[in-house]
Amino acid sequence: EKEGYDHFMLKEIYEQPRTIRDAMRGRISSKESRVALRGMEEFANRFVRANRIIIVACGTSYHSGLIGEYLIEDLARIPVEVEYASEFRYRNPILSEGDIVIALSQSGETADTLAALELAKKKGAMIYGIVNAVGSSIARLTDAGSYIHAGPEIGVASTKAFTGQVTVLTLLALSLARKLSTISNTYFQTLVRELELIPEKVEEILKENDHIKYIAGEVKDHHNALYLGRGYNFPVALEGALKLKEISYVHAEGYPAAEMKHGPIALIDENMPVYVTATNKSAYDKIVSNVQEVVARKGRVIAIVNKGEKAIAGIADHVIEIPSTEEPLTPLLSVIPMQLLSYHVAVELGKNVDQPRNLAKSVTVE
Ligand code: F6R
Repeated sequence: EKEGYDHFMLKEIYEQPRTIRDAMRGRISSKESRVALRGMEEFANRFVRANRIIIVACGTSYHSGLIGEYLIEDLARIPVEVEYASEFRYRNPILSEGDIVIALSQSGETADTLAALELAKKKGAMIYGIVNAVGSSIARLTDAGSYIHAGPEIGVASTKAFTGQVTVLTLLALSLARKLSTISNTYFQTLVRELELIPEKVEEILKENDHIKYIAGEVKDHHNALYLGRGYNFPVALEGALKLKEISYVHAEGYPAAEMKHGPIALIDENMPVYVTATNKSAYDKIVSNVQEVVARKGRVIAIVNKGEKAIAGIADHVIEIPSTEEPLTPLLSVIPMQLLSYHVAVELGKNVDQPRNLAKSVTVE
């Protein structure tokens, strides 16, 4: 079943060019300049008139929810909040009929996410699911939804479900932006065309596997790691840190790059690997200066940059080059090296990659 791969996690990382394509299948066409999610079309009026969208999720799905917030606010201009399902349900949240609650879940069985949806439904909000497991409890409870079609995810560390969720959230944001005319036709076209190119760009990144494995060997003995990113790449920093923690048991934290100076910078010395994603065009010089601050304190910088980048590549200890794309689509690319890196660190440390200690694939306890 592992089809020649040593672990399900590696197999699932490598499946992503296909699973991202599957998440888009029948939903996007650059030729016809069209993006449509059937589940959403049914309730298009409610979406277009929504006061706000609240996304509830846990773990990795929460991180894709954060990217969803950036996408929907940036492109469709609808206010979005993202909440850990467990916090949302116990804090007496304010909800009204004009709100839409979207649950993100690979398994569709996560107890806290399910309970958050039940609460939202009781309060009259429309509930929407972005789920992988067909026929799961969350899929059955929701008013409407979109499957991500990633196929069974066996490795406990979520990889292809994450990129599948982000792909569907991108389609949702694009289709709302189209209906609300919040972006120009030209920009819409550019994003649709670029989105269709993402699977082959992911394939290109997967070819960096040997180089990433080498870097993993260089960093594996450090007991801590910091992940930094700005804008669309901030949630990716959180996800990178989670991937490292859960399978290699190395302590890692993700931060918005600019927050470093408000505390975490005190941690930086020659024993602290710092993973920086610098593929954004906006605030680029700011991230360059964040990296300079790390280098000045002898931190070890592993930089994920676009091909041909010089400023950061010139001062980083290790550089992983990825193809460039439109900024809202960068998470679909920048997360891939992080998945591979965590995988190789865990393998090098002899950990049980597919079944890390203390974790279960679906968390059905609250
Ligand atoms: C991380 C991971 C967990 C899940 C979380 C939510 O790799 O797998 O953090 O993302 O338990 O699970 P789902 O998406 O099934 O609701």
